[in-house]
Amino acid sequence: TEFVSVSELASMMNVGPTEVISACMSLGIFASINQRLDAETIQIVAEEFGFEAEFVSADVQDAIKVEEDSPEDLVDRPPIITVMGHVDHGKTSLLDYIRKAKIADGEAGGITQHIGAYSVKLDGKQLTFLDTPGHEAFTAMRARGAQVTDVAIIIVAADDDVMPQTKEAISHAQAAEVPMVFAINKIDKPGANPDKIKEQLSTMNILVEEWGGKYQCQEISAKHGKNIDELLEKVILEADLLELKANPNKNAVGTVLESSLDKGKGYVTNMLVEAGTLRIGDIILAGKHTGRVRAMLNEKGKNLDVAPPSTPISILGINGAPSAGDKFYIMNDEREARNIATRREQLYREQGLRTQKHITLDEIGRRL
Ligand code: GTP
Ligand code: MG
Repeated sequence: TEFVSVSELASMMNVGPTEVISACMSLGIFASINQRLDAETIQIVAEEFGFEAEFVSADVQDAIKVEEDSPEDLVDRPPIITVMGHVDHGKTSLLDYIRKAKIADGEAGGITQHIGAYSVKLDGKQLTFLDTPGHEAFTAMRARGAQVTDVAIIIVAADDDVMPQTKEAISHAQAAEVPMVFAINKIDKPGANPDKIKEQLSTMNILVEEWGGKYQCQEISAKHGKNIDELLEKVILEADLLELKANPNKNAVGTVLESSLDKGKGYVTNMLVEAGTLRIGDIILAGKHTGRVRAMLNEKGKNLDVAPPSTPISILGINGAPSAGDKFYIMNDEREARNIATRREQLYREQGLRTQKHITLDEIGRRL
């Protein structure tokens, strides 16, 4: 089995990837930066840098037991659609419009939960949307958004340019091999120039369909709701091609979107169920935290007993705040869940300490 890549190992030890590559080379292994290394190589290379490699993932994975799906268990699941783009280009406005226009009146009521994710029914089809922040400080959230998504909407304001976080969103989507649909927004504005945006995209090797390329693109006004149906049709077309399926008849697995501490409620964790079904009372392990699911709310503040695949929810019951992007699993045994959480906690702490130590040594070396 192979564990981590050269670049992952390098960053764990806080050294440059080229240093790891040359350490591998001295062992007669010509590794590229993304190459995964086997346990023996990792052990030897780590020693070279004064680390001791500890392999915990194997027994942790054993305890976690993600169930295999047989084909007859797989049923259609809603696509997860992430809206990404530069600050102020209109991501939240687009989602607000979609929610207002598409959520049936009967569903109203309850306090809107801030989940950053929404489930919307459109012509009888369920869609899950994720919002992401465009500010440059949120690179990690955009990267994680791209990881959990099926289709990315890249939104660009027509009165602005293809900006740094537009480019970054595109490269995250490309790295995750997620299909992209482009939404050129704010076409109601006097200074709007959609062709300029298409032109700028073309310099990044992104040619929209009407220019003979493969990328679907729609000019919209999120503010006035113009052409949103057309945009959604294009998104659904991409999603349908993927034939997305999941097994609802097993323990839930998914990803943490964000978490916070609420004075009254305790830790609130927003997450996305990716496969299986999450239930009240489930023993959950998320990063280095555990707990029993005490309550589940959807974004309309409605209490749920079960959450099937592709459902965004807010849960109560975890004993801490897992990090955005942490995977969550359901465990059969509460003590086992706590043991793994504790081991992970120790591991993170030790890794932190070792990194610290290494930095110190390095600094001394430099001064001498
Ligand atoms: P961040 O979350 O901060 O990255 O921004 P965002 O991409 O979510 O942008 P947001 O939806 O908050 O919109 C930013 C501003 O642009 C707001 O003042 C919106 O009202 C305005 N805006 C969004 N879409 C349109 C549009 O289609 N036309 C016009 N005229 N204004 C728009
Ligand atoms: Mg926003």
